[in-house]
Amino acid sequence: MPNNLPIGMFDSGVGGLTVLKAVRQLMPCENILYLGDTARLPYGSKSARTVSQYAVQCAAELVRRDIKLLVVACNTASAVALDSLRAAYPDLPVIGVVEPGAEAACAASSNGHIAVIATESTIAGGAYQRAIHARLPGASITGHPCPLFVPLAEEGWTEGPIAEAIAARYLDPIFNPASGTGSDEPPDVLVLGCTHFPLLAPAIKHVAAPGTAIVDSAATTARAVRQVLADRNLVRSNGCGSSVYLTTDDVPRFARTGTRFLGTPIAEADVELVDL
Ligand code: DGL
Repeated sequence: MPNNLPIGMFDSGVGGLTVLKAVRQLMPCENILYLGDTARLPYGSKSARTVSQYAVQCAAELVRRDIKLLVVACNTASAVALDSLRAAYPDLPVIGVVEPGAEAACAASSNGHIAVIATESTIAGGAYQRAIHARLPGASITGHPCPLFVPLAEEGWTEGPIAEAIAARYLDPIFNPASGTGSDEPPDVLVLGCTHFPLLAPAIKHVAAPGTAIVDSAATTARAVRQVLADRNLVRSNGCGSSVYLTTDDVPRFARTGTRFLGTPIAEADVELVDL
């Protein structure tokens, strides 16, 4: 397989660009083909069956265009569809974001109390809980859906009183057990188990107990990608890597909101509208 082929990545929308950003920082020479299924976002409130169908369609579009590795840059899709995708493409390395996120959480925790915040579907499926327990069998894990963080991040309301009030409503039961359902000792790690949540890190930090390690999977996923490419002799080590974007809805909106998630401008000319 030629190492010039792009890394394929998909997400329900622009959130996975936080993963692309980390991959780009670590591997500037790699070509990347990113698909955001914005027409069907959010995945996080849909059933595992529906998300799996969408994930298989996204992967098929990327595979059709020739990729050397697939990154499922969406927590919800990683949580429910990773096994189906690996079974569908046995010769293609497929990397999700849940395992690297669990890895980073376990490495950061001293007291073994880990809280995970994510979409409804990711929490309900228990993928993070299983991945953390596989590494840290004695861990005490609490999972909390925080669905309103997704539109807040898309709207750009990531700091200030509104974001902080919503963060407090979601996180108080975790960090202030007397007012809710948390365990006796507060967690020392909070996993941002959704691609959108890193944008809200300032508001989340404002509410989380001081000293809590905030973990997201973007950087660990990027390291996992680099490792797999190196193991398979697929690293592209010269030239400036290109990023090409596919979206299933509204190119200008993808470019506009995507720019905020990526932190660098996305030109509309680099975005192609696709039907899956
Ligand atoms: N990308 C999704 C995730 O990481 C969040 C947005 C959605 O619900 O589709 O879970």
